[in-house]
Amino acid sequence: MSDSHSDALVFFGATGDLAYKKIFPSLQSMVKRGRLDVPVIGVAKAGWTLEQFRERARESLERHGGIDPAAFAKLTALLRYVDGDYRDPATFQAIRDALKGAVRPTHYLAIPPVLFETVIEQLAKSGSDHAGRVIVEKPFGTDLKSAQLLNGILLKSFDEPAIFRIDHYLGKRPVHNLIFFRFSNAFLEPFWNREHVESVQITMAESFGIQGRGAFYDGTGTMRDVVQNHLFQVLAYLTMEPPVRIDSESVRDEKVKILRAIPTLEPIDIVRGQFRGYRNEAGVAPDSQMETFVALRLNVNSWRWQGVPFYIRAGKCLPVTCTEIVVRLRRPPTLFPTSTSEPNYFRFRISPEVTIAFGTTVMDEAEKMIGQTVEMVASHWPGTDDMDAYARVLADAMAGDPTLFAREDYVEEAWRVVDRALKARTPVYEYEPNTWGPREVDHFIAPAGGWQNPIVGRTDVERR
Ligand code: BG6
Repeated sequence: MSDSHSDALVFFGATGDLAYKKIFPSLQSMVKRGRLDVPVIGVAKAGWTLEQFRERARESLERHGGIDPAAFAKLTALLRYVDGDYRDPATFQAIRDALKGAVRPTHYLAIPPVLFETVIEQLAKSGSDHAGRVIVEKPFGTDLKSAQLLNGILLKSFDEPAIFRIDHYLGKRPVHNLIFFRFSNAFLEPFWNREHVESVQITMAESFGIQGRGAFYDGTGTMRDVVQNHLFQVLAYLTMEPPVRIDSESVRDEKVKILRAIPTLEPIDIVRGQFRGYRNEAGVAPDSQMETFVALRLNVNSWRWQGVPFYIRAGKCLPVTCTEIVVRLRRPPTLFPTSTSEPNYFRFRISPEVTIAFGTTVMDEAEKMIGQTVEMVASHWPGTDDMDAYARVLADAMAGDPTLFAREDYVEEAWRVVDRALKARTPVYEYEPNTWGPREVDHFIAPAGGWQNPIVGRTDVERR
C-alpha cells in the first residue's frame, strides 16, 4: 500500500438504502480484487451492534450479487461500527477511537445532502479532516448556488485534491470506453464534427419506477438525479477535445471546457413528464409537480459542434431499461430513385449490454433498388462488468486517484446549464407507464427523423 493510499474507510449512512443496495456489494468486490484491506467503519444512528451491522452486510449481499465466502469472511473481519448522532461530538470521538491511529482515512458521506454540512463540521472539529479524504454522493447540491455553498463548506476542511464528488457513471467501463474508442481510432475524427454529424441523441430509459425512494425522488426529479450528472458526463466524453495528456487534470480540463461551450438551457428547451401513478407513491406529494421524465435539446457552441443539436432524454417507467447514444450523420444525396436516403449513424449502447455499431444502408434482397439499414457491429460485450462501478470509484478514491470524479468547476458548470430551465417550473405532462414519455416530447423536443428507441434483447433499432 502506498503512502497516499487510505488506511481506513469510514462510511456514514451505513444502515441506509445505498449501503444495502450498492456499498456492501462493492466492498466485497473490492476485497475480492485485492483493493480493500483496511478497516471499514460504518456509522449510523440505528442503535445497532457490530453483530447487527455484519448481519446487515450479509443480507445485503444475499440480495445483491451473492456472497463470496472467502471475500465475505475477510470483509466481515474488517467491519467496525459506530452508532451515534451526526450532531454529537461523542460520535466523532468514537470514530477516532475506531480509527486506531489511521492517518489517512477516507470519509464517505452516503447520507442525504442536508446532513453534509453537519458531518463535515464535526469531522473538522474532531480533527479527522487532517490528511483525510472525503467522498460526497450525488446530486452535489440542488442548483448552482447550493453546489457553491457546499463546495465552500468542503473546502474549509479539505483541499480540492482530497474531495471526491461521486458520479458512479464514471466508474462504468462502457462510459470510459467512449473516450477510449474516440481517441484510439483515427477514422472517426474526420467526421466527428459539425460538417458530418446531423444530430446526437442520448437516451437513458428505465422500465422501473422510483422503487420506494419517493421522499428522495420528489425533492430531486430526473434532471437532478441523472441528467445534470450521469448524462452530462456521457455528453462530455462524446464532445470533448482530445486531452493533451491522459492524466486526471488534463482530462477534467477538457470536460469543463466543453461544458462551458453549452449555452444555458431555456424553458423551451425542455419537456418534463410524470408517469401516471407517481403521485400515489409513498413519500410523494399528492399534487407533486416533480418530473420522472425529461427531454431536452442543447447546443455545444464549440468550433467542432456549433449548429449540431444534441438531444437528451431520461425517465422512469419507460418500455425498456437501456442507456444508448445515437450519433446521426448527414444524409447522402439521393441517387437511386426507388430508395430513400437514410442517414448513417453510430450507436453506442452503455447498458444493459455494451455495443458499438455503425448503421449503414445496403441494397435489400428484392429486385428493386431499395435500401435497408444494416449495422456493422464493432464491439459487443455482455453487460456484466468485471468490477462494479461503485467498487471502482471507491477504490480509486481510496487510492487518491481523482480521474473518475467530478471537479468543483465541472459540477458548477453543469448546474449553470440546467438551473434556469429547472427553476422556470415548466409544465409537467402526464404519461402512461410503459410508453416513451409524454406526447409533447415529439412535438417540441425531437431530432429530425425522430427519436431512435432502443430495443433491448436485439441488436437492431426501431424508428419511432
Ligand atoms: C442513480 C439514480 O444515480 O443512477 C437512479 O439515483 C438510477 O435513479 C441509477 O436508477 C442508474 O444507475 P445504474 O448504474 O443502475 O444504471
